Amino acid sequence: MTIKEKFDAMDYGPAPENAAEALAWLIDQGDRFGHFINGAFTAPQDGFDSRNPATGEVLATLSQATQDDVDAAVKSARTAQPKWEKLGGPGRARFLYAIARLLQKHARLFAVLETLDNGKPIRESRDIDIPLAQRHFYYHAGMAQLMESELPEAQALGVCGQIIPWNFPLLMLAWKVAPAIAMGNTVVLKPAEYTSLTALLFADICQQAGLPKGVVNIVTGDGAVGEMIVAAEVDKIAFTGSTSVGRRIREATAGTGKALTLELGGKSPYIVFDDADLDSAVEGLVDAIWFNQGQVCCAGSRLLVQENIADRFYTKLKARMDKLRIGNPLDKSIDIGAVVDPVQLETITTLVAGNQAGETYQPSLRLPPQGSFFPPTLIQGLAPSDPLMQEEIFGPVLVSCTFRTPAEAVELANNSRYGLAATVWSENINLALDLAPKLVAGVVWINGTNMFDAAAGFGGVRESGFGREGGWEGLSAYTRPKGKTKPLAPVAAFAGKQDSHSADPVDRTAKMYIGGKQARPDSGYSKPVFNSHGGLLGHVGMGSRKDIRNAVEAAAGAKAWSKTTGHLRAQILYYIGENLSARADEFAHRIDAMTGKKAGAKEVETAIERLFTAAAWADKYDGQAHGVPMRAVALAMKEPVGVIGALCADEAPLLGLVSVMAPALAMGNRVVLAASGPFPLAATDFYQVLETSDVPAGVVNILTGEATELAQPLAAHMNVDAVWSFSSTDLAQTIEEASALNLKRTWVAHAASLDWSHDHSRKFLLEATEVKNIWVPYGE
Ligand code: NAI
Repeated sequence: MTIKEKFDAMDYGPAPENAAEALAWLIDQGDRFGHFINGAFTAPQDGFDSRNPATGEVLATLSQATQDDVDAAVKSARTAQPKWEKLGGPGRARFLYAIARLLQKHARLFAVLETLDNGKPIRESRDIDIPLAQRHFYYHAGMAQLMESELPEAQALGVCGQIIPWNFPLLMLAWKVAPAIAMGNTVVLKPAEYTSLTALLFADICQQAGLPKGVVNIVTGDGAVGEMIVAAEVDKIAFTGSTSVGRRIREATAGTGKALTLELGGKSPYIVFDDADLDSAVEGLVDAIWFNQGQVCCAGSRLLVQENIADRFYTKLKARMDKLRIGNPLDKSIDIGAVVDPVQLETITTLVAGNQAGETYQPSLRLPPQGSFFPPTLIQGLAPSDPLMQEEIFGPVLVSCTFRTPAEAVELANNSRYGLAATVWSENINLALDLAPKLVAGVVWINGTNMFDAAAGFGGVRESGFGREGGWEGLSAYTRPKGKTKPLAPVAAFAGKQDSHSADPVDRTAKMYIGGKQARPDSGYSKPVFNSHGGLLGHVGMGSRKDIRNAVEAAAGAKAWSKTTGHLRAQILYYIGENLSARADEFAHRIDAMTGKKAGAKEVETAIERLFTAAAWADKYDGQAHGVPMRAVALAMKEPVGVIGALCADEAPLLGLVSVMAPALAMGNRVVLAASGPFPLAATDFYQVLETSDVPAGVVNILTGEATELAQPLAAHMNVDAVWSFSSTDLAQTIEEASALNLKRTWVAHAASLDWSHDHSRKFLLEATEVKNIWVPYGE
C-alpha cells in the first residue's frame, strides 16, 4: 500500500475519554442524591432518574424536592445572608477564589460528568463549559474584592432564587451563583431535572471550600420545584430557560416586590455578506448551530446569506456538514453529541417533520443505534414568515433565506420576537460596524460567534428577556441601592366646593400632548382640578386606552431621536431648561396653587437642575471596552431602550415629570408620560416649554387622567419597551402582569421609592439604557 493509498483509506479512530473517575464519584455518593441544604446533603428521597442521553443508562437517582425542602433551603439562605454580607467583599472574595481553584483542580471530573449527564461533546465541556465556569468565579472573586470601593452605594438584595436550564448546567450555575454570592447574597438554586449532577458535585466543592453553611443551597426537581422557589420568600428570581416559563414567572412575581431577571430564548440571525471569508464563515456556522447540538439560547439558528454568493456558500456548507462526526459524546473527536433527553429529541423531530417549506438537507451520517441523536440539518429557501424561521427549535437545525442589500439583511434579522444575539460576517469592518447598532440584540459578534466571557455582559431584549449576566453591567441584577425603601404615601386630589364647577364659564380644559400637538381625550371626558381651598383651577382630559395607543404610535414613529447624537440631545435639554427658567415664577405659582404648599419655587429650581444634569450626561454616560481574554474587544455600547412609558409621581407635579423625562431623553428614548393624577396642570403647562425648545414631535407625549386607567394599557402595549411607575397608587401588580405580554422591562417605585429632592440620575440612566456587547476580534 502506498502512502497515498493509506492516507485515502485512513479511517478516523475514536479517542474516548475515560469515564471511570466520574462513575466512581457517583458510586461513592451511593448513586442517590438528596438536596444540599444548610451546608449538608439531605437523605435521598423519592425522586427520578437522571440518564445519560447518549445511551439511555441511568446515572443516578435524584430527589424531587417537596415544599418542606424548599422552605428549609430558603430558611437556611435567609439565616446565612446577613453574616455572609457582613463578612465584607474581601472576605467573600477568598471563598469565590477557593471555589474557582477547586473547579480548576477537578476540571476533568466536572467535564466528564457534564458530558455523561448532558450528552454534549467532551471537547466542549472540557474546553468551554468548565473553563468558563472557573473564569466566572475568578472574575467575580475580583468583583467581591472591589465592591466596597467601586460600588459604594450598592448592597446585597438578600436571598436569590435561581432556576437554570439543562443546556449548560455548570456554566449557568456559575453565571448565577458567582455574581450573587460575590455581592453578599445567598442563593437557593434549582438545576434542570435532566442535568443536576454537576450542580451536586458543585455542592461538594462548596463543602471543600469551607463555604459558610446556607450561602449556597441546591434543591433538585422539576418545574413544580421551580414554581415553589418562585413563590417562596426570596428577594429575587433569576431564571434562564424557555420564554413561555419566563412569562409565567413574570406573571407569578407581579406585585410581589421580587427583583427579576430573565434570560430566555432566541432565534439569532447569522448574516453572511458576499465579501466575507466564506470558509471562516462556514466554520463559524458549525460553531453557531452545531455547538451543543444547537441547544444554545443564542445559537446562530437563522442563516441570512447574500443572494449573489448563496449557491457557493450552501455548497461549502453542505460539504462541511458531510464531514461532521456525530456519536459518543465522550469521544474527543466528535463534533455532535446527544440531544439532552428523548423529550427534546421528540420536540425537534416533530418541528422538522411538520415543515413542508424550503429544501431540507441532512448528510448521510450513521447515527448511533441508541441514544438521543439528531443529524445536523439545513433547511434553505424559507420565507421570513415560515414557522421555522420564527420558532426556536433548540436543536441542530439551521434555517436560512437570502438577502440582497444590507438594509434588507437588517430588516430580516430584526423580524423576530426575540433579540438575544446576532452574528455578522464581512471583511468590510465599516459595514459590520454600521450594522451592529441596527441589529436588535443584546450581543453582536463580528466575524466570530458564540464568544462569551465573564467580563462581558450577556442578555437580550424583546422576548429574549431582560437583565445582563456578567461584566459590571451584570452586578446591578444582584444589588440594590443602600438605605431603606419606604412605601409611597398615597397622594389624593383636593375636593371642590359645591359651586366651583360653574364658577368659570370659560372652558379651561387642558388638552393632552401627542405627536407634538395638543389633543383632546378620546373619551370626551374631563375631570376638574381643585386647589386646597376647593376652588376650581381647571379641567384635564381623562386619558384612556385609545389615547395611549395614539401616544405610543407617535413615540414609535419618532425613531430619528434615538439616532441623534448625545451632543444634540444635550443642546435640546439645555434649551428646555432655559425656557423653563424663563417661566419659573409662573410654574412655581401653579404648583403652589395645586398643592397648597409654598414649595413651588424650589421644585422648579430643582427641575431645571435635573434638565441640566441630564444634558450633562447625554454625551458622557459612556460604554466600555471590556478586556476579554482573547484577541478581541467587547464593546459595551449603551443604547436607548426605545419607547418608555412612565406614570409620573403624584406629589411632585413638575419635578416628577422632568426627573423622568430628562434622563430618558438624554439617552435617546422617546417617552409617553402620564402626568401627576391629583396635580396635573404643571405638566399640561409644560407643553409650551417643549414646543419652544425644538423637541421633535412624538419624542415627548403627555397624557392626563387616572393612573389606574392608564397603567394597564401602557404596560400591555406591544410597542412600549419599558414601563416605569412612580405613582402613589400601588400599580406594581397591574404593570408587571401586563408587561408579561412582550416581556418588557419594568421599574415600579415601590421597590425603590424615590425622594425627588435627591438626584437619582444614575439609576435613571441605567434604566434608560440597554447594554449591547459588540465583539470585534482583532490581530492574529
Ligand atoms: P424550561 O424553561 O421548561 O426549563 C428551564 C428550567 O425551568 C428548568 O430548571 C425547569 O425545571 C424550570 N421550570 C419549568 N417550569 C417551571 C415553572 N413553571 N416555574 C419555575 N421553573 C420552571 O425549558 P425546557 O422545557 O426544559 O425546554 C423547552 C424549550 O425551552 C426548549 O426547547 C428551548 O426552546 C427552550 N429553552 C431555552 C433555554 C435558554 O437557554 N434560553 C434553555 C432551555 C430551554
